[in-house]
Parts: sequence; structure tokens; C-alpha cells
Amino acid sequence: MLYSFEIEKYLENLLPERDGLLQEMEEAALRETIPVVTPAVGNFLAWLVRTSKAARILEIGTAIGYSTIWLARAAEVNNGHVTTIDMNLARRQEASNYFDRSGLFGRITSLAGDARKILPGLAGPFDLVFIDAAKGEYLEYFNLVQRLIKPGGMLVVDNVLFRGWVVPGAEFEPKYVRIVNSLRDFLQELNNHPDFSTSVLPLGDGLSLSIKKV
Ligand SMILES: C[S@@+](CC[C@H](N)C(=O)[O-])C[C@H]1O[C@@H](n2cnc3c(N)ncnc32)[C@H](O)[C@@H]1O
Repeated sequence: MLYSFEIEKYLENLLPERDGLLQEMEEAALRETIPVVTPAVGNFLAWLVRTSKAARILEIGTAIGYSTIWLARAAEVNNGHVTTIDMNLARRQEASNYFDRSGLFGRITSLAGDARKILPGLAGPFDLVFIDAAKGEYLEYFNLVQRLIKPGGMLVVDNVLFRGWVVPGAEFEPKYVRIVNSLRDFLQELNNHPDFSTSVLPLGDGLSLSIKKV
């Protein structure tokens, strides 16, 4: 573990208290072991939406909708909208219940199915795309979303450092080799892609931020 849990906890404690709905979702995620973004990452996603004035947002990996609500709330001032995709029907249903209670009427469209099948049929363009689904599929999502991001638009990807295991020499269980190698390939591709300018932050489980060049 190269990134300290204590630092993440400290950053979380610095945040203003989340409202009842987000707190309830954080507890549900913990109870049901659903890997949602940390509160510090949720807060940062909201900051990115506000600072970039993103209005058309695409999310791959809804789970119970925790990050979706951070994104959609931040986009409200820009009359924004979030399209979010997940293939897990039970989680999508849970997310829908939270969306109904969030007051974000009409700001979220939830699509059911494998993102790799849905993305080719989406029109775009999107101001901001957030990827947080199967880590072994990141390169595939990246190839499919490039055409959907507007020039000057942003791509944000969660879990890219995967507990620090992408760092050469890090020790992890052999069952994670395939995912770690996929993430390494993805980060190489993303960082060297001529159409994108990328920074990777060690926030949460590692967050990559890319701007599509104009
Ligand atoms: C890490 S969770 C998403 C957490 C959510 N972004 C949050 O922070 O609140 C990953 C989600 O991606 C979904 N997923 C994985 N592979 C997928 C795929 N190929 N297409 C659509 N959804 C996928 C899983 O069902 C799971 O709910």
C-alpha cells in the first residue's frame, strides 16, 4: 500500500459534512461492500464539474449512484445532465431509488447494459467522461469514448493506481496480475496518446485526469 489510508481519512474529515442521502449511501456501500469513490474523490469530481462548467456528463460504472449524485449535483448550476451506464441490474435499481430521492429530477439518465456495447450507439459530445467500471476493461472503454469527448473536454478515470500495485516492484496476490497489467497498459496508452494531455493524481485509489486537445 503506497498511498496512506490515514491521508485519505484525514482528507475526508476535512470535507464539510455530507447530507443525509450521501451519508446513507456511504453506509450502504460499506455494508454491501460496493466500491464507490471515496468522499474526497466525490468532492473532487464535483469541483472538476464546477471549474470546467461541464454540463454534458457521461459516467461508466454507476453502482448505487454515489458518484453520479456528486456529478449531477455539481452540474445543476450549468443545467447539466449525467448519462450513467451499469450492467448490474440490482445495483441499478438501488441507484434509481436514490436518484428518485435526490431531487435531481430529469438530470440523470441511467442506461442498463455492458458499456462496451452501449458506447458505440451514443451520440455525444460530452464535456466530461468519468470511467469507474471494470479495471481490466479500461483500455476498451478509452478506445470507445474518445470520439464522444468534445475537444477541450475532460476524461477522468478512477482506481488507476489500484492500491499502488501498478508501481513496478509492488507486491500483490497473483490473481490480480491480469488487472494490474491491464491498468499499466492503459496508463501507458493514455499518457502517451497524442490527442490527450494527462495528469495522474494519487487521490483515492488513483485518479487520472486528461484533457482532449483542441
Ligand atoms: C466501482 S463500481 C462504480 C462505483 C460508482 N462509480 C461510485 O463511485 O459510486 C463499478 C461498477 O461498474 C459496473 N461495470 C463493470 N463492468 C461494466 C461494463 N462492462 N459495463 C457496464 N458496467 C460495468 C459494475 O457493475 C459496478 O457496479
